[in-house]
Amino acid sequence: MTTFQLSSSSPANIAADLLVLPVFEGLKPGPGLREVATAMKADLTSILADGGVKGKQGDTFTMPTLGRIKAKMILVVGLGQQAEADANTVRRAAQRIAARSSRFATVATTLHQVGASAADSAHGFAEGLVLGAYRFTQYKERPIDETAIEKSALKKVILVGNRETKALKAALRRGEIYGEAANWARDLVNTPALDATPAFLAAEAKKMAAKHGLVCKIWTRAELKRGGFGGILGVGSGSINEPRLIELAYRGDGNAPPIAVTGKGVTFDSGGLSLKEAQPMEWMKADMGGAAATLAMMRAIAELKPKINVIAAIPCAENMPGGSAIRPGDVLRHRGGKTSEVLNTDAEGRLILADALAYLSEKNPVAIIDSATLTGAAVVALGEDLWAVMGSDPELIAALRSAGEEVGEPGWELPLWTEYRKHIESTIADVKNIGNRWGGAITAALFLKEFVGDVPWAHIDVAGPAFAERQTDYWPRGGTGSPARTLIRYIERQAEKNGGGGRRNGSRRG
Ligand code: BES
Ligand code: ZN
Ligand code: ZN
Repeated sequence: MTTFQLSSSSPANIAADLLVLPVFEGLKPGPGLREVATAMKADLTSILADGGVKGKQGDTFTMPTLGRIKAKMILVVGLGQQAEADANTVRRAAQRIAARSSRFATVATTLHQVGASAADSAHGFAEGLVLGAYRFTQYKERPIDETAIEKSALKKVILVGNRETKALKAALRRGEIYGEAANWARDLVNTPALDATPAFLAAEAKKMAAKHGLVCKIWTRAELKRGGFGGILGVGSGSINEPRLIELAYRGDGNAPPIAVTGKGVTFDSGGLSLKEAQPMEWMKADMGGAAATLAMMRAIAELKPKINVIAAIPCAENMPGGSAIRPGDVLRHRGGKTSEVLNTDAEGRLILADALAYLSEKNPVAIIDSATLTGAAVVALGEDLWAVMGSDPELIAALRSAGEEVGEPGWELPLWTEYRKHIESTIADVKNIGNRWGGAITAALFLKEFVGDVPWAHIDVAGPAFAERQTDYWPRGGTGSPARTLIRYIERQAEKNGGGGRRNGSRRG
């Protein structure tokens, strides 16, 4: 556990193992850099220039202080253009710092002074540190945590240049909550499907709910049968690992109608009888990224306690080609009675989500949001950084996009082009589960739309950003937690509209 401290002393007077100082594009000094240069009687700008530092995002430079100031080492981090620097810049820098500062017990920095709002930047800083310190080591012979060399020594972070205020302390804590929730989602995504079965996700949800005071009900296979959840049962029928539906409720606003959320929880997507090839199957343990993000959001909301009601129904199933698997041509009857013709068992996400959406729409929510690693087509359209969003409510879509931008998980809208509805017309059922070759992200969304009734709804296709196939300089390989932080921020923003419990009660600097 890292503790955060705020201090109003000068960065030159802080005893720390590492002092992290920002610099902007063109070597414009960030907060604290000049003071430190003066105290050290050193021309830091020339030293940085000689070291090849330009101040671009991702630039780093480490140097010893040779006893001239109290800190032992300095880490200069580039933040890019000063005018563009905001809480997202700070978060990203903190992610990079966390990866580089694991040897140091005490780290001091002025980074949170960058950007328009000290509270937002402090939040981004804490969140970035938590995200950047993430390691997934459970499956090593000896978890790296036990070995001397890679164990993070980081104990204390001192934010220099501000007196401690309630607002700043709260912002730091909120950043930790966001980061820890996303890291939990990353753990769930990274856990191999051998272990992360539907029952495992349900047990994790149950533990989390007990710890954080959420109402939780797990639907077993028999209960799903009685409830008419033919999509979840159908997809899960080819696996010995039985499907589950995880139901969670957070109540922060009396009897007000809730926001409803769901997420695709396919614990492994082999494709079923429409079997995938080996390479596209490599990452399919991550096909429950939407479920993981939804669980993580519920956890964070339980901790943040905003004034709002949120319900979740998360369908979990393993898509396997066992002897009892569904076949191309089969027809499933979903919750609420609508039927779908399964022409490709690899288009399974929509089949389980259909049941969850129909179930949630029965609860008369103000809106339904689903997140899903639903289509390769969304990745073709927008690449790996951006999720796609489609839905029936422009305001909801705009709010999700703006929440995503605030937390550094950006998305982009694709059209819910109703002309393409004809491509999922079935001759024997109400709808079929594949369209033609093109516009696959859109036809998938149009399929989902059949099950939401007239509730305002948005669908986030997170097949690209949910996991990183290759490491970048601020994400290791594996789950990213996306779009957990987007969902948390969206819910908090909606709660603010309810006039309370929101994040901004007096925390904005001006
Ligand atoms: N889980 C996949 C989508 C996916 C692809 C997620 C790449 C993450 C990375 C989904 O179930 C799937 O297989 N979709 C098919 C749909 C097709 C059969 C209509 C696809 O996208 O090819
Ligand atoms: Zn899938
Ligand atoms: Zn699939």
